[in-house]
Amino acid sequence: MNTPVEGFSKLTKTQKIDWIASNCTKDPKATKELLEQYWSTDPEVQKLHDEFIENTVSNYYLPFAIAPNFKINDELFAIPMAIEESSVVAAASKAAKFWLERGGFKAEIIGTEKVGQVHFVFKGDKKKLSDFFVSTKKELIKSVGTITQSMEERGGGINAIELRDLSDKIEGYYQLHCTFETLDAMGANFINSCLEQFAKTFKELALTHDTFTEEEKNIEIVMSILSNYVPNCLVKAEVSCPISELGDTDMPATEFAEKFVQAVNIAKVEPFRAVTHNKGIMNGIDAVVLATGNDFRAVEAGVHAYAAKDGQYSSLTHAKIENGTFRFWIEIPLALGTVGGLTTLHPLVKLALEILQNPSAKHLMQIIAVAGLAQNFAAVRSLVTTGIQKGHMKMHLLNMLNQLGATDSEKEQLVTYFKDQTVTNASVKEAFERIKSN
Ligand code: MEV
Repeated sequence: MNTPVEGFSKLTKTQKIDWIASNCTKDPKATKELLEQYWSTDPEVQKLHDEFIENTVSNYYLPFAIAPNFKINDELFAIPMAIEESSVVAAASKAAKFWLERGGFKAEIIGTEKVGQVHFVFKGDKKKLSDFFVSTKKELIKSVGTITQSMEERGGGINAIELRDLSDKIEGYYQLHCTFETLDAMGANFINSCLEQFAKTFKELALTHDTFTEEEKNIEIVMSILSNYVPNCLVKAEVSCPISELGDTDMPATEFAEKFVQAVNIAKVEPFRAVTHNKGIMNGIDAVVLATGNDFRAVEAGVHAYAAKDGQYSSLTHAKIENGTFRFWIEIPLALGTVGGLTTLHPLVKLALEILQNPSAKHLMQIIAVAGLAQNFAAVRSLVTTGIQKGHMKMHLLNMLNQLGATDSEKEQLVTYFKDQTVTNASVKEAFERIKSN
């Protein structure tokens, strides 16, 4: 393995590539060729990508695909997805088509509140702290005037600042728990800038607050940061239809509906199943979050925290049969942006947003919740009927054939052959070898 390197970030891109190729790979020439092969041929595009992050040596491509025919609140959408897992886009498209013929998806925003906190330590009289907080609140808001002005002009800004006492958990630990409306921006920079200014102003005002003792004046700011847990930035998406219209599900409609509800109920009470159930939902959600240039780590963290909000990790979707009607819905927190960040920088992100008709953040929340619900419908439908492997392995067939080094014509023959054969690793290998030896 390589030895530590000094000043790697200061090396030129070529030097970085040389270093990584000769220190960390067996075939430096092949490494360099590979890294170059994945560069854009357009120097401007490459420069843009190089500047997104630090120490870039190439681009890492993910497939960019379209799942068409999503009817959401009576409008049709083709949804762009960036994902590496075969069968996700096919499953989403299949679910979209299924529900297109049954009235489509309905989606609604429940809330758009974002959260940020200043965490601090105060050693002293709680009542004095609470009085101080009340007396400084106006000053705190005034101190971020230049940061909030343009957001306020557009109807957003700070919703509330609360003092929270958590000193029963950690000695002297309090928070300024702040809520924000950031409109079409995800709002991370806006929120963090406000919080850092709140912290500074709060500390400064404490230093001259006359009822505080010397120790009380010395508020210790630990950190100021937004929270990716956004339980009040919530969207709901739903499908429903009479059970009698649930035909075409590989089993009688009533049996299908009951089994489906049972499967969702299992995910509600059983964390081992809930995690996989929700992973299937995130297949759809992450793919659109990524395609639209949003922060999928933030979304993932917030969603899973929400799934555990009642004390046990549980399903994000819900299903029931009511008076002969099958209902299936998701309620999920999504902090998204359609302005700022990558949305104006990455050409494919811009295109993804254009394909979605340049949605507002609220609209994008609805579209992404629908993508998650559709994905979950497709997965649970397969699970309770044919089993997941049948469809999954069919979609995975091309990956397996590529791994075996099949030519285009061999792939064509084998895809035709496996139309009515079971796809397994062994059966694909065997069929491939048979074709090869002919
Ligand atoms: C695979 O990526 C996702 C599934 O496991 C989801 C599920 O089990 O519901 C099929």
